[in-house]
Amino acid sequence: MTVGCGGLQELKRELEVDPDEMKRIAASFQREMELGLEGRSGSLPMLSSHVGSPTGDERGDYLALDFGGTNVRVLLVELRGEGVYREKQRLSVPLKDSKAGYDLTCCVADGGQLFDFIAEKIGLVATGEISYRLGYTFSFPCCLLEPGKAVLLRWTKEFSTRDVVGRDVGELLQNALRRNGINNVQLGAILNDTVGTLLAAAYQDKNCDIASILGTGHNTSYLEKNKHWCERPVIINIEAGNFDKLKGSRYDRILDENSENPGRQLLEKMVSGRYLGELVRIVLISFYQEGLIFGGNWGEAFAAKDIFTAKHICRILGDESRGLKVIDEVLHKDFSLIDTDLEERRLLRDICGLVVERSAKLAAATYHGVICHQGFPCGTERTIAVDGSLFEKIPFFPVFLDAALEKLRENEGAPTRMRLVKDGSGIGAAVAAALAKN
Ligand code: BGC
Repeated sequence: MTVGCGGLQELKRELEVDPDEMKRIAASFQREMELGLEGRSGSLPMLSSHVGSPTGDERGDYLALDFGGTNVRVLLVELRGEGVYREKQRLSVPLKDSKAGYDLTCCVADGGQLFDFIAEKIGLVATGEISYRLGYTFSFPCCLLEPGKAVLLRWTKEFSTRDVVGRDVGELLQNALRRNGINNVQLGAILNDTVGTLLAAAYQDKNCDIASILGTGHNTSYLEKNKHWCERPVIINIEAGNFDKLKGSRYDRILDENSENPGRQLLEKMVSGRYLGELVRIVLISFYQEGLIFGGNWGEAFAAKDIFTAKHICRILGDESRGLKVIDEVLHKDFSLIDTDLEERRLLRDICGLVVERSAKLAAATYHGVICHQGFPCGTERTIAVDGSLFEKIPFFPVFLDAALEKLRENEGAPTRMRLVKDGSGIGAAVAAALAKN
């Protein structure tokens, strides 16, 4: 069948973020940040991490718990000083497993069950007579009252476990450790994954003062040095994903209305891996209803919510074959669509490309907002540490991001470099535990 170009052109207009728009978003993001720092209500809570930058010379063995998605990791990390670290042990376990018959991420489970499960896994790594200090990365919006006391403000991403929101997640973990007879682990620090990524990167690179997660979720933190806002330099968790000053298209509105948290995490819903596939699916349904794609072939293929994921986008954008054979295979195997024609496969690839490019531009605009807030120290190159599957795995994502940052920079100071910091949240948890000890 012939696919209508009108649909794609219109979609382009709807998802377009031109340089002027990026600048407007950056300015509005900066304003929201400053409102949050003043403690006035806005969409960015600007949560203090209570830690500053490491020197790079922190040393010792630390236990790290990384809890931010459906896989929980427990690490034993050796900090060797001079920016060198080594992972000595790692355990990764899913919080849901349909074959094993459990799901601790949903509201069927409660906080007690969730933290008992995690404590038990910590016990498998914290063996012997040794005492361990634990850095605990908890990647959800939390109000950190002191280094080991953090109250969960609300769940994000796919989580809805009962009896955790409004509670101190440090205490929940410590109680579970005690219940499970693990008495050799002392909680040193609780931190967000963006803070962990920033600490891990800054441990090696003094020019790094911004970190971001572009994965299932999205968020950014930065080092605040301005005396007007803090007595001494401190890393602030922006909770950028909740930024709500964006126009959004009709597709974004449908996604939000049908999400588990309508009206919340609006930037995250336009940027992060948890939502990009769903956004493509909503666009596809609309194109299909307008007779622009897949004709009689459609069936129930894309009817179910969340059936189209960032992994599909990854494969689709990575298809470099002449006949778009990989896309054909994805459509056939995962969606039982046969006999799609080349034009339709191209259209699908273009839709994915537009959704991904917009995500990168929006993220870049918010990074520029942070940089404008921090100011442009003369001639200093700046590093933004990034972790997450979107940045690491989605074809062209880093290219789109770099191009957008370059457009925003113009003559305003030295270049900004993006650096992938894999598993930064785990290493950063160890660095935070070391900082807390010192
Ligand atoms: C959470 C943040 C977290 C981000 C990346 C968001 O959904 O609100 O706290 O940093 O995901 O994991």
